[in-house]
Amino acid sequence: MNRNNFYITTPIYYPSGNPHMGHAYSSIFADVFARFKRNDNYKVHFLTGTDEHGLKIQKAAEKNSSDPQKYCDEISEIFKDLTIKLNLSNDDFIRTTEKRHHACVNDIWNRLVKSGDIYLSKYKGWYSVSDEAYYNSDEIIEKNGKKISSFSGSSVEWVEEDSFFFKLSAWEKKLLEFYDKNKKFILPISRRNEVVNFVKSGLKDLSVSRTSFTWGIKVPTDDKHVIYVWLDALTNYLSALNFPNTNDNLYKDFWPASVHIIGKDILRFHAIYWPAFLMAAKIQPPHRVFSHGWILSGEEKMSKSKGNILNPLEVIKTYGIDELRYYLMKEVSHGSDGSISLKSLENCINSDLANNYGNLCQRVFSFVKNNCKNRVGKITNLSSSDKDLIEKTKVLTKNLREEMDNQNLNNYIKSVINISFLTNKYINDEEPWKLKKINPEKMNNVLHIALEQIGKISILLNPLIPKKSSLVLDSLNIDPKLRNLSFLDGKNLLGDKVEIKDLNILFKKVS
Ligand code: MSP
Repeated sequence: MNRNNFYITTPIYYPSGNPHMGHAYSSIFADVFARFKRNDNYKVHFLTGTDEHGLKIQKAAEKNSSDPQKYCDEISEIFKDLTIKLNLSNDDFIRTTEKRHHACVNDIWNRLVKSGDIYLSKYKGWYSVSDEAYYNSDEIIEKNGKKISSFSGSSVEWVEEDSFFFKLSAWEKKLLEFYDKNKKFILPISRRNEVVNFVKSGLKDLSVSRTSFTWGIKVPTDDKHVIYVWLDALTNYLSALNFPNTNDNLYKDFWPASVHIIGKDILRFHAIYWPAFLMAAKIQPPHRVFSHGWILSGEEKMSKSKGNILNPLEVIKTYGIDELRYYLMKEVSHGSDGSISLKSLENCINSDLANNYGNLCQRVFSFVKNNCKNRVGKITNLSSSDKDLIEKTKVLTKNLREEMDNQNLNNYIKSVINISFLTNKYINDEEPWKLKKINPEKMNNVLHIALEQIGKISILLNPLIPKKSSLVLDSLNIDPKLRNLSFLDGKNLLGDKVEIKDLNILFKKVS
């Protein structure tokens, strides 16, 4: 893969109910990086989709008295619609019930058989349908007379059935070597440590087929078995690139994936099983798995089964999509869990969007309109306070690419909002309204610098608030082709003379 290509994925969602804020969070988080990289002139492929096989989906369909395929067709549409409502810039939406995916899963299965990593035996142990995960006995506890997983809290059932196994235990040493060589394969570091410790404590072979239900992809050589839904689902990242056709441009351009964005509940699958499957199949593992925390409602994970869901579509209707996107990204610290509430959403909209960035744009645009007929001339010289603002902005933008390369979105947002704050302060200190009469040349310089700052801030905020930032960039008359991050390398965004268009109010204060 070319260094200027970037392949980013979200987890593909179980179509087992309506999407909630946790789904929205995972998707928006990935979208921000996809947009940032596009703005930095990378060739980007951003994938999302639905994970449609397995017992969990079969049961959900039965509960709705529906055939699984029909059920998936309906719910998958709802998730597809969510990508539009969240303004995701995904290049593809994969469904694991598609033909292209079946072909890919068959190929991976055959590779694992060929490498000698699959054998037939019997599974006896605990299984959680809601997590689609096997658990060891020492991971099971009892709560209110029910057996649950101590890891996820989901209820488990005892399963005994014929099953094909993947020789995961044989990959223990190779996985540890792989983690050691690729220090940033799992981020944040706390998650990496968790995984390394888990692998060091010993891996058991993994059951990779089921015989007690039928909703899945059949094992190519034994149709009594359906392939374990995680082996099926993880493979979506390859099938979307038309694997096994390794001559396909998508595959050549984008594999290995740059980063899989996932929630911490599905870390084991992505950071242990997936690289082991791939190494066994003689395919390069991805560069990174980034595991974000959970969105909490109070102290609990927000989820359908817990009934504590904030509906993203309702929030978007009341507050707006950019407002929701910004809030989720700003409020939740990306490695850890974060509580969200409508109150803190409103505070965030008021403080960062309405009072800071929105106010900066509004006051500068309306001043230029009312006092300069929307035109600002060339900068004639720079005062010490102009230089100070430019210098501070350079310092704050210096590490932004690196922050984004490490998924440090919180630091990124902090720096960008700080630039906006400093620019507001610069306007307060320079008082262009007083300069109009006494020093129009200096007023022109101050406004030019302020507009240049607004342009930069808008491009930097674009991945988070694509709609509103584009309105500002349109009003600044910046050609869409030039809305990129080359100013980080010292280039100016605006020409010598600037002609702007009127800008309507961007963010209304909420109370
Ligand atoms: N189908 C699997 C993923 C397969 S990827 C090969 C799955 N689906 S899911 O719909 O249950 O979850 C999708 C993503 O949403 C996961 O990354 C999960 O961590 C995330 N979230 C679900 N609830 C969440 C919160 N309350 N908070 C943040 N993200 C959480 O897992």
